[in-house]
Amino acid sequence: MYFTDEQVIGVCGAAWGDEGKGKFTDEAAAEADVIVRTQGGCNAGHTVIVDGSKYKFHQVPSGIMYEKTLNIIGNGVVIDPRVLVEQELQQLTDRHHSIAGLRISGDAHVIMPWHRILDKAREWSLMKGKIGTTARGIGPAYADKVNRCGIRMNDLLNADRLAEKCASLISEKEKMTAEVYGVSVDIFNQWMRAADQFSDWSCDGHYNPEAIARSYAEWGMQLKEYITDTRVLLYEAYKSGKKILLEGAQGLLLDIDHGTYPYVTSSNCAAGGFATGAGFSPGRIGRVYSVMSAYMTRVGGGPFPTELGTEESISDENASMRMTQEECKLLAHTADDDYSIGKVLRHVAGEFGTTTGRPRRTGWFDAVACAHAVRVNGPDIIVSKLDVLDNLPLLRICTAYEYKGAEVFYNGTVLRSGAIIKVFLTDAQILAQCVPAEYEEFAGWEEDITTVRSYVELPEATREYLCGIAHHTGCTIRRVSVGPERNQTMSVQ
Ligand code: IMP
Ligand code: MG
Repeated sequence: MYFTDEQVIGVCGAAWGDEGKGKFTDEAAAEADVIVRTQGGCNAGHTVIVDGSKYKFHQVPSGIMYEKTLNIIGNGVVIDPRVLVEQELQQLTDRHHSIAGLRISGDAHVIMPWHRILDKAREWSLMKGKIGTTARGIGPAYADKVNRCGIRMNDLLNADRLAEKCASLISEKEKMTAEVYGVSVDIFNQWMRAADQFSDWSCDGHYNPEAIARSYAEWGMQLKEYITDTRVLLYEAYKSGKKILLEGAQGLLLDIDHGTYPYVTSSNCAAGGFATGAGFSPGRIGRVYSVMSAYMTRVGGGPFPTELGTEESISDENASMRMTQEECKLLAHTADDDYSIGKVLRHVAGEFGTTTGRPRRTGWFDAVACAHAVRVNGPDIIVSKLDVLDNLPLLRICTAYEYKGAEVFYNGTVLRSGAIIKVFLTDAQILAQCVPAEYEEFAGWEEDITTVRSYVELPEATREYLCGIAHHTGCTIRRVSVGPERNQTMSVQ
């Protein structure tokens, strides 16, 4: 049971996303009446398999597969209406799933064609220093929201106003693309021919605001019946005793305020984002579960102190060249370098991005980073993907870093080379100069734990490893998962 005494709970990520939240939100959704996505957009992705049929979701809450629940896309989400209408909802209606329970906040901001172009343009101009974004326009859409020049879902239903807004925005967007980021007309045209843009949205280096407004107004019409004041809806649901699940995307270390800035996403993935992203009172949230995987992963650029291998060394790997479980087992025993151990984790778990297909970087469990998540999000943790460690003879948990960079001021102290760091650093440039200084080592259990169904039946070595996580992060482990299936989750307390 996810809802015990609480009427409202949240499930979010504790690290750099991909901790396996999807599985737990799906389980908790079975107990909920209302599910709300509160931040992020189609940078997130998860796959749901029902009766052997695969569904891919990016923006729609995971409860959509349960026909009796209300599924709200909250005001904190940035919505790409094309992806929502033509991909996510289409796959459901094609297979005769009802979408009657969908509700969308009229205040949610909309991802426009120029947001994707500006996302690509900025990454392109940064070259080596690029963030490694998902190129879905997330950052520029949130930037316009904060800069007070965004377009919101309600705008899509007022065609004249929408056309006016588009027309008034495009000259600034074109100038930024060409003059600030140095994107030539040829490259602009090439990007506007990509599958995520429409051919009539631009002509020879310029946007066509009428055509863009027309497309968006059409999607608006298709979504009209679902757009509403979701704050009121949630308040009424709460008052009538309904169980509410708040669904996070990405993870705390990608949070715009608390993550490894600037290698972060542009929204509040922390537990605090639930309240603003849904328009719901924080005092009414009974419990927030933060999901940590039993090892670390990261997609895209940015510092990763416990990384096994490097972003460069894994760039040739892809999901279609996945090693078999037998090959992974063999490599787990012969590996004597970091890259190979990281490769075992990646291939056992299939750590390749849902949205972009990129190989995920993998590393040892980082207690310094996860203690930060406990401080910001709260103590209740779900540890996922524990079975991925089944083959490894030796496991490590990082408990301190050493700073190796030049003297730098940080949060009231001067860091000098050789300093031992036990509190996570939210400055990517400084964190990039930290290496693990202390590891606690644990013997691996070297057996298949995927069939274990209760905490006490886990091998002693597994429980010792979990105690190590709890001890070094200050968390309370509430649940543990040993495989992707629903019955492969056990509660701890
Ligand atoms: P953006 O959200 O597309 O701007 O990307 C910013 C950073 O967040 C990049 O490092 C992405 O790889 C990462 N990111 C965004 N969404 C996800 C996610 O759902 N899982 C993991 N990483 C993500
Ligand atoms: Mg994901």
